[in-house]
Amino acid sequence: MNKNGELGFIHRFVPSSGSSATLLLLHGTGGDENDLLPIGHQLLPEAALLSPRGRVRENGMLRFFRRVAEGVFDLQDLAIQTEALAEFIKRAANQYKFDTGQVIAVGYSNGANIAASVMLNEPNLLRGAVLFRPMVPFVPDSRRDLRNVSALLAAGRRDPIVSPEETSSLARLFEAGGALVSIHWHNGGHELGNDDLAAAKEWLELWPPAT
Ligand code: MLT
Repeated sequence: MNKNGELGFIHRFVPSSGSSATLLLLHGTGGDENDLLPIGHQLLPEAALLSPRGRVRENGMLRFFRRVAEGVFDLQDLAIQTEALAEFIKRAANQYKFDTGQVIAVGYSNGANIAASVMLNEPNLLRGAVLFRPMVPFVPDSRRDLRNVSALLAAGRRDPIVSPEETSSLARLFEAGGALVSIHWHNGGHELGNDDLAAAKEWLELWPPAT
C-alpha cells in the first residue's frame, strides 16, 4: 500500500502475515520508502512493514532531517522531524491497527540516526532497533529511561563517515539509560555487507517480539 502523505509522511505499509511485530524501516540519505522493504521481508518475513519517506531534501536527495555538514546536524530541525516521526508512528498504529509496543526500527545511516533520536526523545515508543551505521544524533540534557529498549548497532570498522568511537559513544549513551545494547562489527565501511544482515536477522530471531 503506498500512501501519499497521509499521516504526515509519504509511506508504504505492508500488513503482517502472522507476526505481531512491525518493522519501522528508515532509509538512508538519497533513498526512499521503497529501499528497505526487501530487507524488512528478509529480516522478519511475517512482520508488518511501515516505511516512511524522509521529508527533507538535500541537493535532491531525501533525508529525515537537515544537516549543516557531514555529521553536523541541524539540531532544531532534528527535534522537529523527530517529533513528527513519533507522531506518524502513533497515527499509523491507529490507522493500521498495530501495537506501538511491538515496533522495532530498522534504520540505515540517516535513518538509523533519526531512529536513535526517537529513542532518546521518547524512550517508550519503540521496543527496539536495528541501527545500521548509526551516529549520536544528539546528547540529551538528562538521562533517559531506556530500560525497556534493546538495540543492535551494526558498525563498519573502516567506515569513513562513522568512527568506531562514535559507535561506542552511542552504545554508552543507550546503556546509561539501561538499554540492552549489542554491537556487530563489520570489517568494511559504510555500505552494508551480508554479515550485517545476518547479524540483524539473528538478533531479531533471538529476541522475538511477544506474539
Ligand atoms: C547523517 O547525515 O545522518 C549521517 O551523516 C549519515 C548520512 O546520511 O550520510
